[in-house]
Parts: sequence; C-alpha cells; structure tokens
Amino acid sequence: MSKNVVLGVTGGIAAYKALDLVSKLRKKDINVDVIMTESATKFVTPLSFQSLSQNQVIVDMFLEPKSWEIQHISLADKADVLAIVPATANVIGKIANGIADDMLTTTVMATKAPVLIAPAMNVNMYENPIVQRNIQILKQYGYHIIEPIEGRLACGYVGKGKLNDIDLIFDYIEMLLEKKKDYLGKRVLVTAGPTVEYIDPVRFISNRSSGKMGYAIARAARNRGAEVILITGPTNLAPPVGVKVIRVKTAEEMFKEVMKYYPEVDIAIKAAAVADYKVEGTSKVKIKKTEDSFELKLIKNKDILQEMGKAKSKQILVGFAAETNDLIKNAKLKLEGKNLDMIIANDVTEENSGFDHDTNTVKIIKNDGQIIQLPNMLKEELANIILNYILELKVKR
Ligand SMILES: Cc1cc2nc3c(=O)[nH]c(=O)nc-3n(C[C@H](O)[C@H](O)[C@H](O)COP(=O)(O)O)c2cc1C
Repeated sequence: MSKNVVLGVTGGIAAYKALDLVSKLRKKDINVDVIMTESATKFVTPLSFQSLSQNQVIVDMFLEPKSWEIQHISLADKADVLAIVPATANVIGKIANGIADDMLTTTVMATKAPVLIAPAMNVNMYENPIVQRNIQILKQYGYHIIEPIEGRLACGYVGKGKLNDIDLIFDYIEMLLEKKKDYLGKRVLVTAGPTVEYIDPVRFISNRSSGKMGYAIARAARNRGAEVILITGPTNLAPPVGVKVIRVKTAEEMFKEVMKYYPEVDIAIKAAAVADYKVEGTSKVKIKKTEDSFELKLIKNKDILQEMGKAKSKQILVGFAAETNDLIKNAKLKLEGKNLDMIIANDVTEENSGFDHDTNTVKIIKNDGQIIQLPNMLKEELANIILNYILELKVKR
C-alpha cells in the first residue's frame, strides 16, 4: 500500500456519501485514515468508517494515545492527500480563519499535503457572502475546492449546495495522488467513444464502444501532468476533471473538432471507434412504418486518422485497431498506411477484452516494427503502459 489519503468527514447530511468514497479508495488499495468531527458522528457512526477503511477512526484529539506519536502530526505527515468530504460551512470558516480546535482542523493546519475540500450545505448557506469569502480565501491559499452542484437538497430546497459526485471527487483525489509528472508541458489530444450516424431524428447507427479506454488514457495523461483535450462521442462515463472535454455525436463533428485542435498538440491518441459509413440522405422527419421493407444507403465518412497522418508535423500520432481477424497484419497495414507512430491492436473477440469491458488485451506495435504483447489488464493500467511507450518512441519525420 503506497498511497495515503486522510479523509475528514464533517457534520452534514451528505456524510453518508463519504462511506462510498472510502470504499472506492480501498478498492484501489489506497490507505484511508478517517477523521470525523464530533458533529459528523451524529450523522454516521465511526464504526461504519472503521469497517470500510480497516483503520481506527479518530474523533477526539485528546484521547489517550496508543503510541507516543502525536496523532494529528503523524497523520498530517502521512497524508499524500487530505480530503474533506463533505465540508460544512463551519469547517470551511474555521480553516479559512486559522482555527484549529479539533482533530480535523488541527491536522489540516499541520499538513503540507494537497487539501481538497468538497462543500455541501443548504443553498442559502452556500450563497452566504461569508461562506463565499471563506471559500475564496481557501482557493487563494491553494486549497482545491470541488464546488457543490445544483439539485434537490436534503432540506427540501432546490439549488446549489449538493455534494458533487463521489466519482468526480475520487477522480480528483487520484489526480492529486499521482507523483509521476513526466507529461508536464505536453498537450495531448485523446478521442474516445463511438460516433452515431443518424437515419432520421430519432434513429441512428452506432457501435459498441463504451469510451472506457480513451477516458482512461485521458485521465492517466492528466494525472501525469499533461494538458488534455478529450473529444468524445456519446458515452455514459463521467467527464474527467481537469480535462477539456468536447462532446460530439457524428464522425463529421469529430473530424471537425479533431482537426481544430490537432495542430496545437504534441501527441494525439485516437481511441474513438469512428463510424466508417454514414447514412446517405438522413431523413429530416421520423420515418413512418408504412413499407414492409426499406433500404438504407451508406456512404463513406472521412477517414480521420488518415487525414491526421497526412497533416502530421510535430505530433506523435497513435491509433487503435479493433479487429476480429488477422490482428497483426491489419494493424500493421493501418500503422504504415496512415503514417502512425504507434498502434494498439485489439482483438475484440477475445474474452474480457475490447468493447465495454474494464479490461483489455492488446498488442502494441511501434513504428520500428517492435511488437509488445501485453497480458489482460485493467484499462487504467494499460493507459499508463501506452503512455510509457509513447515517451520512448523515436519519431520518424
Ligand atoms: C440535520 C442537520 C443537517 C445539517 N446539514 C448540514 C450541511 O449539510 N452542511 C453544513 O454546512 N451544515 C449542516 N448542518 C450544521 C452543522 O452540523 C453544524 O454547523 C455543525 O456545527 C458542523 O460541525 P463540524 O463542521 O465540526 O462538523 C446540519 C445540522 C443538522 C442538525
């Protein structure tokens, strides 16, 4: 277990949501030490956090210590990230004004780790200029604030004050935990997901791409310091924080956006499954069920990867080949024919691989002919391996 998160939980209705965060962090083998405020224990018991984190939960700063370590100092030092989820108006006010009167605020005061604060409260509390001023102060000191979102609040009000998604908070913590910053200063364009081609206003043709591979690459590159532009077809995935996300639907829209950003980037990784064909003469009105059969004529879309290969100047261009047969042969043809620097060949018929799986089995083919055969692994792990190989590439111009 290499990484440590100290999680502060304060006294708001959303405290129960922090349980889910602990569980997500533990699944990634991240150690979690939970500090609860006295008020937080009125909402959720320390036992729940203790069970999920498998660590003793700390509430009382003056409890008889088990060892001679001073606990708030040792936790402050141990933390790679200190996150407060949810953060009350009270705790925000205390930290912004240098008050350290309990275990959580004292640990915040003593830590040099990045501190992430996710406020959650009634909309009127959140809009209170004093709370807003305190948040501004914290931002100025470099604290990371994950703004609440609009929604129906527990108090019955509708407005901004709801704790942001736990997935997004988790994503932000992962970003802060990454220490390797070998992509710092690099601009990376990633495409992900399927495209859709409309038959009429309510029907379309698409494919089974979930976007998971591309999103994993975008996150990994961001974690390692890159400035990332993610151009994505429709997916059910949460947009990564700290990434410029551009949503498109059709291959034509993806082509337009890719070509707009391509000249400015150092590396382009095309993980999207772009439709090869579109419908000729998309109907402007919904097609009625009058005929027993009707024919659709498909015409070729622009080959985005090919166009990128042609327009390549300084960029490293990486493609994906999803194949069902002759994997290496087809991938090599694509690598050479489209002027790529590297291709990730993916046999989508293999078990636990390709579309919609969390894992993938691929072969990486480099422009010098080297083939790297990788075992089945999580797409997140694979994303990092792909990024490692990109940095090793000797680019032919
Ligand atoms: C039922 C109930 C719900 C509360 N929900 C919130 C909340 O969501 N956000 C908030 O800032 N305060 C909320 N409060 C007020 C805090 O619990 C109160 O300010 C407390 O002093 C916060 O202590 P702490 O910051 O040390 O945890 C709530 C209070 C009650 C009784």
